[in-house]
Amino acid sequence: MLLSIESSCDDSAIAITEIKTAKLILHKKISQEIKHAKYGGVVPELASRLHAVDLPKLLEGAKEYFPKIKAVAVTNEPGLAVTLNEGVMMAKAFSTFQKLPLVPVHHLKGHIYSLFIQKPVILPLLAVLISGGHTMVVRVKGLEDMEILATSMDDSVGESFDKVAKMMGLGYPGGPIVEALARDGDANRFELPIPLRNSPLIAFSLSGLKNAVRLKIEALGGAKEISEQDRRDLSASFQKAIIAHLSQKIKKILAKDRISNVALVGGASANLALRGAFENLCKEYDKTLLTAPLEYCSDNAAMIGRYAIEALKAGLTCSSQDIEVVANRKLKAGMRL
Ligand code: KG4
Ligand code: ZN
Repeated sequence: MLLSIESSCDDSAIAITEIKTAKLILHKKISQEIKHAKYGGVVPELASRLHAVDLPKLLEGAKEYFPKIKAVAVTNEPGLAVTLNEGVMMAKAFSTFQKLPLVPVHHLKGHIYSLFIQKPVILPLLAVLISGGHTMVVRVKGLEDMEILATSMDDSVGESFDKVAKMMGLGYPGGPIVEALARDGDANRFELPIPLRNSPLIAFSLSGLKNAVRLKIEALGGAKEISEQDRRDLSASFQKAIIAHLSQKIKKILAKDRISNVALVGGASANLALRGAFENLCKEYDKTLLTAPLEYCSDNAAMIGRYAIEALKAGLTCSSQDIEVVANRKLKAGMRL
């Protein structure tokens, strides 16, 4: 069995996966969302201290599997350095003490492999990754063969949902809140700009859209003055604009790329309106859409374990002295993940 650990942001998570069959035996997560909600976003120092308390608690709960664990995997990049460190230190201690191989896992590759939890791997595919930290399209051909085709020039999709919720005086994370409000809103009430609409660039940009929402809120008298119906209509109009933007840019990729499997992954891929739009898009271009079950969209250790099983088979392990924590490096189109 393989123990996997995730602590790149505000979720402490561990999972146990059977190495031979990739069967998920256990996965547990303690989310810190409530603790960060009053600050409207993740406070790194607080997150780090909470991981230091919660990760050992989770590990304690997996005690019965310890004798069967043959490898340890941990997210080592990208994320918040102070929170990644908590998971990496625990993985190092465990693997050193038990003399086990250590598998470093790139968090974004983990999101992509969330598609294959309890399932065989299907490659190649075009992965549209929309999370709190990243927005990108990746051509995935293998474990270590992932090429970034497009990225966001500023905010990520998840982040823009979080910021819009915050501007309306609502909690964190904003994605599920805005999605729920949008369900009962009029998406045509507010005219919002579709980012990069007339640009030939295959890239994403969300900060202009976020600012346009801010101006609408101000015009309505500010966060304290807006009505519940204003919030619903703003949410629906904002979500519609994001969907139009993502669809417009991704269409350009789908029209050219021969890969028949398209995947939507990352925390924001839990958004059902977005999923619906991607279903239609894939139908239009004769592609098959792959998504992960909702419980595996946001950060978890099961996806880290799923990637690690394949990495372990490919010999992609390292020693506990060599594992490096890489917080955030700028990822651009043309680069490899
Ligand atoms: O993948 P994830 O758990 O963490 C990162 O790796 O960043 O993604 C978290 C992000 C948050 O910004 C959250 O607001 C967003 O995913 N999110 C959503 C939805 N559920 C979570 N965004 C839009 N609609 C949702 N239903
Ligand atoms: Zn994530």
